Formats: sequence, C-alpha cells, structure tokens
Amino acid sequence: MSVKELLKSHGTPPREVYFDLENSPFVPKEVVEEMLPYFNKYGYGNPAITHKPGWEAYGVLLEAKEFIAKTICAESPEEIVFTHSGTEANNLAVLGIALKNRKRKGKIVVSAIEHLSVTFAAEYSSKLFGHEVAVVPVDEDGFIDPEIFEAYMSKDVFLVSIQTVNHEIGTIQNIKELVKIAKDYNPDVVFHTDAAEAYARLRFSVKDLGVDLVTLSSSKIHGPRGAGALYVRRGIELEPVIRGQISVEKLWPGAENIPAIVGFKKAAELAFDNFEENVKKMKNLRDMLMEGILDRVPDVLVNGPRGNLRAPDNVNVSFLYVEGEALTIELSLRGIYVSSASACTSRMLEPSHVLLAIGRKYEEAHGSILFKISRYHSEEDINYALENIVEAVKRLREISPIKGVKNE
Ligand SMILES: Cc1ncc(COP(=O)(O)O)c(C=O)c1O
Repeated sequence: MSVKELLKSHGTPPREVYFDLENSPFVPKEVVEEMLPYFNKYGYGNPAITHKPGWEAYGVLLEAKEFIAKTICAESPEEIVFTHSGTEANNLAVLGIALKNRKRKGKIVVSAIEHLSVTFAAEYSSKLFGHEVAVVPVDEDGFIDPEIFEAYMSKDVFLVSIQTVNHEIGTIQNIKELVKIAKDYNPDVVFHTDAAEAYARLRFSVKDLGVDLVTLSSSKIHGPRGAGALYVRRGIELEPVIRGQISVEKLWPGAENIPAIVGFKKAAELAFDNFEENVKKMKNLRDMLMEGILDRVPDVLVNGPRGNLRAPDNVNVSFLYVEGEALTIELSLRGIYVSSASACTSRMLEPSHVLLAIGRKYEEAHGSILFKISRYHSEEDINYALENIVEAVKRLREISPIKGVKNE
C-alpha cells in the first residue's frame, strides 16, 4: 500500500491529539506570524553583509542572542552561538573541544543515556583522535550516582557531557553536583550539558550550574526546525567543526537561518511568559495521563522517575505484551499520535539504548510509548487519549501471540 493510500484509508477520527513533540514540533500561529516577514521583506538579509537588509538581519540575530542569553543567565549575548539544530550544537560542543585536544591522549566522559548526537560525536572523536570514551552507567530511573561518577574522573578527562533532562524518560539530572565533582577533580575539565529537553520547561542558570557549554534546540520548545544554539562560556576555546565562508557565527559557518532564529526567540518568549503556570499545567496533564494509564491498564511499567525529578512534559510507559509499533499504528487510527521509541531509533526498530541502560528487557523496551505533553494540550485531550489507549491496548492484547496475557 502506498503512503497516499495508507493515509486515505486512515479516515477522520473524532479528535486528534498530537503527542509526538519529540520527533516533530508543532509551531503555534504566533511563532509562524513572527517568522513570516523574514521570509520575504527581511529574508534576503544576510547578517554578515554590510547593507541595510544585512544590518536588519544582524539586528534581529543580536536581539535573539540577547533574549536567549538572559533566559539562561549567561553573562553576555556573545556567549550564544546559533547553529541549525540541537544535533549541530552537540556536535560543535563535543567535537569542537575534541579538536582542541586532538594532539593529546585524553578521555571524554558521557552518560549511558545521552542523545545519540552526543554519543556518536564522542565515538567519532575516539575514531579520529584516539580519545577514550568512558560511559557512566545510570540507575533504574536514569540517575547518575555521584560516587560512581567521581570514580570516572581522572586527570586525563578533558570533557564531560551529561544531559540536563533525558529526552526519552524525562530524568532530571543533578548537573550542579556533577559539575562540582568534575571541577573539584580538575578545574580545567570542560563540562557540557545538553539542555535541549530542559530549556523553557525548567528554570536554570548557567552560572549557578557552573557549566561551560549548553545545547538548546528550537524545535523542542514549539519553535521551528532549523535553529539551535550552543552557549559557550566566555574563555572556553573550541575549534570550528565545519569549514565555510565568513558568517557572523565564526564557530558555525554558513548563512544563519534568520526566520528560524526569529521563530526560536518567539517560541522562547511564549514559553517564558507565564512560565510557572505553563509548567504547572504540563505537570497536571502529565500526572493525569500517567495515573490514568496506571489505573486503567494492567501490566504497565513507568519508564523514568515519578514526581518532581521527572520533566513536566514527559510520560513514557511500557505496555507489556504489546508491540510499541503496533500500538502507535492503532492509536494513530484513533487520532492519537505518539512514538514508540526516541526520534532517532524508532525507524530502526531497535530497542532504545536509554531503556536498555535503565535495565528494561528487550521486549519491555519494545512496548514503550513516549507521550510528550505541552501547554497546548487540554484535559479533554488527555481524557480522549486515555479512553482510546485502554481500548487499543485491550484489542492488541486480545490478538497478541504472546501467552499469558491478561485483560481486565
Ligand atoms: C536531548 C536532545 N538533544 C539533542 C537533540 C537534537 O535536537 P535537534 O532535533 O534540534 O537536532 C534532541 C532531539 O531529539 C534531544 O532530545
């Protein structure tokens, strides 16, 4: 069946609830409207060029840097480097520092549940420069034990990269404590945190955390694709990873994507307006969905921690005796859009490395579903989802080839 035929046979469900914000954002009207003029009137302005449209583009670029710097308590807007995605920012952080250290033997420390753009960049550095990559394990909820982390520190560690919030199971790591351990051991170690899943949902200050490099991504906060950023603390030296003609961003050459940067800034403004209210709403909806599933569906495992150390927008559960892919399709027919693993692995049909790292068995990892909650969801959306999740899981379990399945 072609994709067109598949979509035609899909029908129109009574309601549609989009929970797959991890794989693809939806961009609200206010953000799109803010971006539109920069595709036509100002879109031709390249901020590196000295004419009026160029200056105008340069002006909006600086305003965006200023706003984003303020939201993470950076000292200066110059510490914000725009890339075109979080993946690029992670690569710039890891490979930029690795390149700087290419002439020495040394070690990069990452956690077992990093986004693959960090893990693969560290592995690439090992291949290119012979750096050792040490992978710190996590416990059953995805937390790093500080004592175990300390055991990974040694004088040859030049970079640590540990994410603030995990993208699949929502674990909020104690970055401040890990930075202290790493810097007490060696003040010269560079500490990078991938905060793509934390930004605009947790308040944090780069000064308070003590981090040197921080990754942000527009598409994780209802901004458009095509913009990401790396905070680079003043004094931290990185080498550019890609080469190209002169642009404003010396560390990430290539013409800046001005409409996307404008959208990134607007999305951040919307998230930080009524921040506490937005987060409270997300937490309530998160708990309503999670508790509703646990109350109404038997044989479900929660992946990741419960309570305040879980990101406000993350619900990840494994439905035992059900294939995650089959459930995403069944839910899609009912207008509920979710993913069965992280963005990077769902098409590979490989069990998620994050779920395996927290000790899930292969089949438990395969039955996992990720729901990302946003402030744009409503209680009606959650009730509709719950009703359909109960029915969909029941139906799939009835036809499941796996023995010993119980239904209520
Ligand atoms: C924690 C984390 N880091 C980095 C990325 C990559 O961001 P982008 O999609 O902007 O490349 C993602 C996206 O899935 C993520 O969740």
